[in-house]
Amino acid sequence: MKLWGGRFSKATDALVDDFNSSIRFDARMYRQDIKGSMAHAEMLGRQGIIPKDDAALIVKTLGEILKDIENGKVEFSIDAEDIHMNIETILTERIGDAGKKLHTGRSRNDQVTLDLRMYLRDESDELIEMLKNTMTVLLDLASAHVDTIMPGYTHLQKAQPVTFAHHVMAYFQMFSRDLERLTDCRRRVNVMPLGSGALAGTTYPLDREFVAEKLGFDAVTSNSLDGVSDRDFVIEFLSVLSMIMMHLSRFCEELVLWSSHEFAFVEMDDSYSTGSSIMPQKKNPDVAELIRGKTGRVYGHLMSLLTTMKGLPLAYNKDMQEDKEAAFDALDTVKLCLPVFTNMVRTMKVNGEKMKQGAKGGFTNATDIADYLVKKGVPFRSSHAIVGKMVARAVETNRDLDEFSLSEFQEFSDLIEEDIYNAIDVATCVAERNITGGPAKEQVQKEIDKGYEQLK
Ligand code: ARG
Repeated sequence: MKLWGGRFSKATDALVDDFNSSIRFDARMYRQDIKGSMAHAEMLGRQGIIPKDDAALIVKTLGEILKDIENGKVEFSIDAEDIHMNIETILTERIGDAGKKLHTGRSRNDQVTLDLRMYLRDESDELIEMLKNTMTVLLDLASAHVDTIMPGYTHLQKAQPVTFAHHVMAYFQMFSRDLERLTDCRRRVNVMPLGSGALAGTTYPLDREFVAEKLGFDAVTSNSLDGVSDRDFVIEFLSVLSMIMMHLSRFCEELVLWSSHEFAFVEMDDSYSTGSSIMPQKKNPDVAELIRGKTGRVYGHLMSLLTTMKGLPLAYNKDMQEDKEAAFDALDTVKLCLPVFTNMVRTMKVNGEKMKQGAKGGFTNATDIADYLVKKGVPFRSSHAIVGKMVARAVETNRDLDEFSLSEFQEFSDLIEEDIYNAIDVATCVAERNITGGPAKEQVQKEIDKGYEQLK
């Protein structure tokens, strides 16, 4: 007999039991479900809605059930549909009528969103720690490479020299915003919905604030319809996860590129690479590729829940049960990727020599020649045109700009003097960009120091 079976004269079809049941994936919220029920029962007792003794017995027995679950002594059943009814069924099996009083003034509709909010809140705290760990490794990596000059790109064409530290710190900034977003999202997750009932609140004098306080919530929801039908917090959480994956994936894409023979800027540690079953020479950046690949799956969950929600009338609809598989799989994916990414980056070898060589070719100092002329009084548009001609000559004669003799430089402008060679050295190009947010060592070091401070 189902907990809700009173008005039915026939059992549900076995196919429907299986189809309808969410215990396969919502069992993981058992702790949140039990803690939520304990707080609810205690409040019912305090408010005189159920006898104090019954409340105490419920709380004590729920504690025992929690222990039994954690020791693997409990088997959940598909018949009991979801984690909420499984726990309630076990409780009632153990203490009879007292257990039947637990669900007073509550609905699974407000219970499920309570559990999910607690679950995502707890997971957010874990994710925040993981993300901070990744960020620390990026700071360490940047610290080791403030002098490692590399080419910066636009359109994947060599543009201007930067340093590897500067490049890594760009990702630090992205993850730092992700951290902010996660923390901010957690505030909207951490609102207590019990008291919304099925949709229209309840006639019992529940003390919602007591339950909220007991369970560590910052506030209670303000509208019972919204309380049971809001899944914004899950969608927002999925969007934060998507953004984290997008950032991981961009970095991974660069690492795949950089580990190619053509770039050879980095080499993954053997312990973070894989080989080929046919080509003996291969060393593949599978880990980076797989993180890039898994990004699509997290985006998919975000789109799927947005789509699930878009046509739902108020208040609760069973469609919303689909929120959990999306949220859990996305969460599992990010929790899988973050530590692997972090260790891969921590153990990879950086080839500073190759990076520097890369920074030298491709006329990455052309802007600096233009700026040199500007500092001697030439308007920028004119100097841009002059240097454009130099580049054309260099391309024709298959040379770099710093291979021009002084007299050759002077054919283009008689303002050019011997100091041009120092001015267009890639090290000078980086050092001169000493502006807040720029690649000069002093600036990058300032950002690294701030980063460590921020993570303390
Ligand atoms: N398993 C359900 C879910 O995940 C719990 C709420 C069910 N409520 C209902 N009235 N069917 O959404």
